[in-house]
Amino acid sequence: MKIKEKISLEEVFGKEYKIRLFEPENNQEAVITHYLHNSKNGVSQFFKKDAVKFTKEILQNKFPQENITNLVAEDALQYGIFETFDIPFPPVETPKFKFIDLFAGIGGFRLAMQNLGGKCVFTSEWDKEAKRTYKANFGERPFGDITKEETKAFIPNGFDLLCAGFPCQAFSIAGKRGGFEDTRGTLFFEVAEIIKRKKPKAIFLENVKGLRNHNGGKTLATILNVLRNDLGYYVPEPQIINAKDFGVPQNRERIYIVGFRADLGIDSFKYPKPLKKKVAFSQVKEKNVPPTKYFLSTQYVQTLINHKERHESKGNGFGFAIIPDDGISNAIVVGGMGRERNLVLDHRIKDFTPTTHIKGTVNREGIRKMTPREWARLQGFPDKYVIPVADASAYKQFGNSVAVPAIQATANKILELIGITNDNGK
Ligand SMILES: C[S@@+](CC[C@H](N)C(=O)[O-])C[C@H]1O[C@@H](n2cnc3c(N)ncnc32)[C@H](O)[C@@H]1O
Repeated sequence: MKIKEKISLEEVFGKEYKIRLFEPENNQEAVITHYLHNSKNGVSQFFKKDAVKFTKEILQNKFPQENITNLVAEDALQYGIFETFDIPFPPVETPKFKFIDLFAGIGGFRLAMQNLGGKCVFTSEWDKEAKRTYKANFGERPFGDITKEETKAFIPNGFDLLCAGFPCQAFSIAGKRGGFEDTRGTLFFEVAEIIKRKKPKAIFLENVKGLRNHNGGKTLATILNVLRNDLGYYVPEPQIINAKDFGVPQNRERIYIVGFRADLGIDSFKYPKPLKKKVAFSQVKEKNVPPTKYFLSTQYVQTLINHKERHESKGNGFGFAIIPDDGISNAIVVGGMGRERNLVLDHRIKDFTPTTHIKGTVNREGIRKMTPREWARLQGFPDKYVIPVADASAYKQFGNSVAVPAIQATANKILELIGITNDNGK
């Protein structure tokens, strides 16, 4: 039997499917999409056995009368039974290097690496909504919890670069040194474990600026000690990089840690220089923003102003700031409990007219929140990047993400050193 009918992955794994075949957190869709995305680079063989197994289950469920053998399933997979490439950022046709995308969020690293000619061969992210955004843009569903051995088992060998923006946690250091074992139980340990097993040529880690002084500097010292002494990587002094220096109007400082496998003999690294070009908020500003959705009520504006006046001296003003057209944004982040803390970034719109003012609900000055699209632009995501989730999730996702241009400029320097030249990232 040959199955020639096309099946969309949405049909199998999406909401419409009445009988849930799989638990949402299982890796089936991740396996199948990873298999399909790697068909041209030899990595797909790594996912093949499981991909065939899951395809067989899907087909058996769809065609209960048929006898679906492994061969039928394999044939169906090869025929291209699943449609996945109708997406804004398909895999690079002739990749220059391979990378993995850990703690992938919505794929800020992935976008930068694909721009530089990279092919993602494994991605992991456990947040359901972030996975949705990731898949809508890259056509690939990330694997889940990276702390699980069954997830790590899907990481192929032979990739060049490991990318990870891992959440920062303190280590309880037993000995003086702060070595590999002391990091056990943290997410950095997972990153270190993967480096140890897979030995990629280079690593690129990103974290909040506060990592530098976290736990009196011990957290960073331990990370560097593990990477340098336990794993044998050349790791230059980490650098604080500001997104605003790389073409986006956002004052976002993050710490970048890069490393190179010792046998490559690399012993110096230069972070990219800030670009001369400065960009103002007006360049990311959306026109024709719906008044009812993003404009704030008079009362709310007053609450923010009062709160700011009372607390700003203590450094706590809800992050409320009115940004002039020629200014730049504060760092976009979402606070605890999903509150838009430090992100009620408003903008006084010059051309606001009373006709757009809805009586009693919208403030007269035309102060509004930034839109998710403006947040996307502040992080350097192009407008073809799809935002398939509700606003609350979108703010969280872009706030958690990386500034793509700054990541790309740094990755370009890493790639040059490991012999992968590129002009795109300059
Ligand atoms: C700081 S964000 C990184 C965002 C990413 N660099 C981007 O461009 O969107 C960290 C991410 O790690 C994910 N995460 C945390 N623990 C995880 C785990 N155990 N397994 C997989 N993902 C995890 C979170 O859901 C979050 O999206």
